[in-house]
Amino acid sequence: MLGLGLLALLAPLVSADALAARATACNNSPDLCSKSYGEITHLGAHDSPFVRDASTDFSTSGNQFFNTTVQLDAGVRLVTAQVHKQNNEWHLCHSSCDLLDAGTLSAWLSSIKTWLDNNPNEVITVLLVNSDDASASDLNGQFEAANIVKYAYTPPSKTSAPTTWPTLQELINKGTRMMTFVASLDPSSNTVAPYLMDEFTFIFENQFDVTAAANFSCLPNRPSSVEGNTESALSAKLLPFMNHFLDQQELLGIEIPNVDAVDTTNAPSGGTGNLGTAATTCKQTYSGRQPTFILVDFFNKGPAISTVDKLNNVTNAVGRISVPSSDSSSSGSTSSGVFKGLVDLVNQAKMGAEPTIGNWVWAGGNWGGLLNGGISL
Ligand SMILES: *[C@@H]1O[C@H](CO)[C@@H](O)[C@H](O)[C@H]1NC(C)=O
Ligand SMILES: *[C@@H]1O[C@H](CO)[C@@H](O)[C@H](O)[C@H]1NC(C)=O
Ligand SMILES: *[C@@H]1O[C@H](CO)[C@@H](O)[C@H](O)[C@H]1NC(C)=O
Repeated sequence: MLGLGLLALLAPLVSADALAARATACNNSPDLCSKSYGEITHLGAHDSPFVRDASTDFSTSGNQFFNTTVQLDAGVRLVTAQVHKQNNEWHLCHSSCDLLDAGTLSAWLSSIKTWLDNNPNEVITVLLVNSDDASASDLNGQFEAANIVKYAYTPPSKTSAPTTWPTLQELINKGTRMMTFVASLDPSSNTVAPYLMDEFTFIFENQFDVTAAANFSCLPNRPSSVEGNTESALSAKLLPFMNHFLDQQELLGIEIPNVDAVDTTNAPSGGTGNLGTAATTCKQTYSGRQPTFILVDFFNKGPAISTVDKLNNVTNAVGRISVPSSDSSSSGSTSSGVFKGLVDLVNQAKMGAEPTIGNWVWAGGNWGGLLNGGISL
């Protein structure tokens, strides 16, 4: 009885707190509440569930050092993942489920749902790469299982991009705080889940497959209808999506994130390929329109959020739990990281790859660092 009485007393206090929070900040800043969803820049974690940490034995296929919950806590507001069919289930896998299998889509969505429950003033975006052509009903099943559909925003039209998007405050007030895009999902065949937005009906992206720091480009690459043509991409009201991550080419066309370059790639200024300069260039290319999304690997490096805050004119971010952007906390060059690199390579060889000696050496990770400079690669 005492417990219930206490609960009754506490309940109004809790909701008053929630209301106070609502009045103060949206997506970590009071200045963003009145801004349209499409007008601000959202920091994205590329391949969000593919983590290079102890849970994957520091897989070289990992694109992030911290899991999705930690990413969101730190200010990431866009998470992307690849959906693959594995044993008749929908799994999140990096290129192939033999390389890195991060579990089911529904389990990942559940972790996002929990985060949304705990962070009532935040609007996030989920982008799924539909690698094995899941249908709207297949995907909807996963969202239903995660009990997250209630948070999904449904656009006024599933076949054309709107002129303006709701403000963060409007989305927060309605409780529709999750934007969901799928690359790709034919809108005409999607009758069951209109909240699943076909990515290229609403968004254009620059090139993502970049392996040289000097080769980042702001020009539209997808959808093909606007390839190379910024003007037509913008006049089609597509939201600018800026990929900004560097891969390195490995054996037989396999590409892995270029972790050695990431301190520069994600930096607000500095060397060739830095994020700050690239974002400024893209904003200019888009006639002063800031990119709606910036997608990076190892989001905590740079730190990438500095560039996003600058674009959003945010100097007073609140409610973030930051993670270190220095090397010490996140290096994969531990003995288990080295070992996992070899396991990955063995798996690739089993899948038909024929690694060269150089690749076997590479797979071990940072041998030079490990052996105190005895070997340089
Ligand atoms: C994410 O990582 C944090 C920190 O390592 C950990 O406490 C948490 O349990 C992880 N969350 C999930 C859903 O794996
Ligand atoms: C970078 O771009 C140049 C010019 O388009 C091209 O010749 C070169 O192959 C690119 N480099 C890489 C590594 O993709
Ligand atoms: C930030 O300020 C610039 C320059 O005044 C403006 O163009 C841009 O729209 C602002 N962005 C946001 C999200 O407030």
